[in-house]
Amino acid sequence: VQLDVSDEASILKAAEELKSTPIDLVINNAGILYGHDLKTTTKEDLMKQFEINSVGPFLVTRAFLPNLKQAVSDKGGAIVAQVTSRMGSVEDNTSGGYYGYRASKSALNMLNKSLSIDLKGEKITSLLLHPGYVKTDMVNNMGNVEPADTAASMAKIIENSKLSDSGKFYHFEGNILPW
Ligand SMILES: NC(=O)c1ccc[n+]([C@@H]2O[C@H](COP(=O)([O-])OP(=O)(O)OC[C@H]3O[C@@H](n4cnc5c(N)ncnc54)[C@H](OP(=O)(O)O)[C@@H]3O)[C@@H](O)[C@H]2O)c1
Repeated sequence: VQLDVSDEASILKAAEELKSTPIDLVINNAGILYGHDLKTTTKEDLMKQFEINSVGPFLVTRAFLPNLKQAVSDKGGAIVAQVTSRMGSVEDNTSGGYYGYRASKSALNMLNKSLSIDLKGEKITSLLLHPGYVKTDMVNNMGNVEPADTAASMAKIIENSKLSDSGKFYHFEGNILPW
């Protein structure tokens, strides 16, 4: 199934293609980072990062709710995991810059908080996961965490999560990050 998270029609088409398929775990991982500073940040790059990093995960979660609810009927629960960033933590921001990226991840964190409240009655858990500074294209492979290691750690957090954990903002090592 192909899906462009910045294109709502493509999200709805993917959901239609998977109609009636129970899905017990949705991981919203797609993201972009523009490293612009106070002087070089443009309206376009702010909007693009909001579109992909905040609005996209919200629309994907909503589009796949029928599938998640089917999984709840079959298995008693389902999970949505939003791959966010500690760069979206207001309290943790000690170095400034990265206006669009930071703000778009803060927005994702807030969207997930509302989802966690609205979906608790449906027995759907929605988590925020910070993957660490990972060796990927996004950071020109400069990170200090291997993709396979953070994937394994995040999978463990997902596996061990309970409905009462919904809305929490996890570091991939398991500790809770400040808002
Ligand atoms: N790397 C880090 O240190 C780090 C730290 C904190 C948080 N994160 C978060 O971790 C997640 C994964 O990032 P990464 O490091 O793996 O970055 P990456 O190497 O740049 O990969 C980003 C992925 O997002 C996909 N994507 C981008 N725009 C999309 C769209 N409109 N629709 C569907 N898919 C789209 C890309 O697909 P294509 O290749 O097909 O474009 C690619 O697979 C992101 O949410 C990022 O913000 C990363």
